[in-house]
Amino acid sequence: METKIIRIDKDNYFNKILNYPAKVLNEGGLVAFPTETVYGLGANALDEDALLKIFEAKGRPADNPLIVHIANIDELDVLVEEYGLLEKKVISKFWPGPLTIIFKKKDIVPDIVTAGLDTVAIRMPSSKIARKLIELANIPLAAPSANLSGKPSPTVVDHVIEDLTGKIECIIDGGNCEVGLESTVLDLSGEIPTVLRPGGVTYEKLLEVIPNVIFDEALINKDMTPKSPGMKYVHYSPEAEVYILEYDELNSQKIFEINSLIKEKFINKKIGFMGSRQFVNKFNKNFTISLGNKEDLNEIASNLFNALRKFDEHDVEVVISESFKNEGMGVAIMNRLNKSAGYKTIKI
Ligand code: TXA
Ligand code: MG
Repeated sequence: METKIIRIDKDNYFNKILNYPAKVLNEGGLVAFPTETVYGLGANALDEDALLKIFEAKGRPADNPLIVHIANIDELDVLVEEYGLLEKKVISKFWPGPLTIIFKKKDIVPDIVTAGLDTVAIRMPSSKIARKLIELANIPLAAPSANLSGKPSPTVVDHVIEDLTGKIECIIDGGNCEVGLESTVLDLSGEIPTVLRPGGVTYEKLLEVIPNVIFDEALINKDMTPKSPGMKYVHYSPEAEVYILEYDELNSQKIFEINSLIKEKFINKKIGFMGSRQFVNKFNKNFTISLGNKEDLNEIASNLFNALRKFDEHDVEVVISESFKNEGMGVAIMNRLNKSAGYKTIKI
């Protein structure tokens, strides 16, 4: 299949450039599009044949449900059962934006979207291109991240092109994604509001509106089974093996120790270091990728997936990553890092 690439300058474009991808979606095709978190791979959320193509193109397991993206609040009532005051408060505070909410679903939502669950995940993205596309297509869009299953999610269009060219009808290039990590998944369908996946909206921000919100236990104890089906899969894995470095303090003695230990452990392997600018500067005799300023976890988050893919482009075999504070955006960063490392650490 030929994949048409549409380049858009996100600060200066005419909506009619989105007419073609909207038509593709209406005809049951697949379109990759930018959102503020990561690129999504969209299909009509009410068309089972179109939805099947998403799973095929990504090589995604069928028991991993999809997020449905909407552009206006009216579309929500078509898809989900009646909801309460809490949902209304959360929606008015965080939508549009990087928060996915789990609701009880209506029958109109096909089982293939929800992997047979009686709940559905809904998100209203803040990306103007994404919302305009949904509006023009005039249908809700089911969209997982636009990567092959298992790979880091794409935050730049080149990674979508790499993974999906020839497999889908159209890719919209809207530049780089600002947040760089996927949305927070918040389950409001049960007794206790629960974060199933940490992401673009931090736990601290949610607490301001939902005083009793908790993390799914599987996010704290990796041996528990996650409530969100997708969280159990291997994820965000580059070809390189990733290790998270754990240390108390990085003085010159420690840096010497780390360098010797790594040389011994990974004989003849190409090693790379990843972390904040302050961290990688200490290992500059090796191949390094800086994720940004240590004090700016939003910047670190926005560069993480891109960096993981860059190591592969440079045939790095072992990546040693800094570990970050488990608070604010650090929770989402450490969640993705731990998954890409398969929870492997080096303690020093
Ligand atoms: O930022 C994002 O959320 C991106 C952009 C494209 O919007 N999308 C994304 O989709 O990350 P995906 O498919 O890669 O991740 C969806 C997550 C999975 O962990 C899935 O298991 C969970 O949402 N999920 C979807 N429906 C669910 C449901 N009914 N109950 C629990 N978890 C659900
Ligand atoms: Mg994904």
